[in-house]
Amino acid sequence: MVDFLSIDDLELAGKKVFVRVDINTPVDPSSGRLMDLGRIREASVTIRALSKSAVVVGSHQGRVGRSDYISLKQHREALSKMLGTEVKFVEDVFGEAARNAIDRLNEGEVLMLENLRFAAEENYEYSFEDAAKTHLVSNLAPHLDACVLDAFPTAHRAHPSIVGFAEVLPTCAGLLVARELKALTRIIATSKAPYTAVLGGAKVSDRLEAINALISNGKADNVLLTGLIALVFLRAAKVLKASLDPELERYVPKAAELLSRYRENFHLPEDLAIMKDGERVEVDVRELGDAKPLDIGIKTIDKFSRIIKSSGTVYMSGPPGAFELKGFEKGTHELLMATATSLATTIVSGGHLTTSMETLGVKEWIDHVSTAGGALVMFLAGERLPLIEALKRAAARHKR
Ligand code: 3PG
Repeated sequence: MVDFLSIDDLELAGKKVFVRVDINTPVDPSSGRLMDLGRIREASVTIRALSKSAVVVGSHQGRVGRSDYISLKQHREALSKMLGTEVKFVEDVFGEAARNAIDRLNEGEVLMLENLRFAAEENYEYSFEDAAKTHLVSNLAPHLDACVLDAFPTAHRAHPSIVGFAEVLPTCAGLLVARELKALTRIIATSKAPYTAVLGGAKVSDRLEAINALISNGKADNVLLTGLIALVFLRAAKVLKASLDPELERYVPKAAELLSRYRENFHLPEDLAIMKDGERVEVDVRELGDAKPLDIGIKTIDKFSRIIKSSGTVYMSGPPGAFELKGFEKGTHELLMATATSLATTIVSGGHLTTSMETLGVKEWIDHVSTAGGALVMFLAGERLPLIEALKRAAARHKR
């Protein structure tokens, strides 16, 4: 088990406590509204447990240049409802307005800072020492007494708010981080081969990184590809002749390199489902043309379900298809069902898949449902996570 402090190990009552949560949430591109409040609900548990402190909440949302790179105002509204008390908000990250708002905050009150990635530094990775010297940390830390790290889904990013405060303030893990680490450590100790990763969704660059980490660390004997990442690999395997849109096409060389190194591990879709006259139609991958696939096809579902059922450990992240469209939820539902009913040790990354697990009523059948995506894969692959290192360093300093 990782050696870190918990919120009971620090004297936090009556103190100004910075709580780094991860309430990064999918945003509906057409309405700009938050689509799933699961991470905000998880964060509210730790914030509620700190009701005797003055709590300063920090989180990122989206990535620069993307449509989900928005203010945290809606998150503040949702958190206020969940806590049953008004969360204060400051449209600033580390400037005078933020510092004044922190100084005015009383015990029992909660203040949310604006999207931390609105500050340039929070979009870069730093060493522990350099993170502590950033404007973000050096401006805010003198106004705070302690830091609680609860952003498990961002554990793989050495951003200032993840690794910087822990160098200069007494720092412990929040309840979510403690719970995830405990569950995952137990699961990893008993997990067995063959290991199968079922990867889908839209974050293609993260998936490429994840695949490399998992296979090279012997944690993915089978990689079942669905969603957009499957199209990138089908193109790299020269099965798809037409170019993908440039946003996806740029990942094809990296996919080709992974395919040539680890061909045996990969399983690509044989068929896909497209929409024709408002109906689901199955097509062989070679006959896709320029139609837009919305799900994996039935043959692929059967083949992938068989592999899942004969696995010792299954890790599933990202929906295999556009599960919100009627008829195209089939791949997501069937692969989740195969995972939930298999005898394997099962881990599912939350978000979109949680919605589907709830629809199917199988969430309780999964061994661990995690709030994290990329960070979880890195943890499963045995990679070092900056947030955990920061917690260990803070615990070692505390004990000295
Ligand atoms: C996630 O959703 O995986 C985390 O919030 C990290 O977000 P990022 O991949 O944009 O750093």
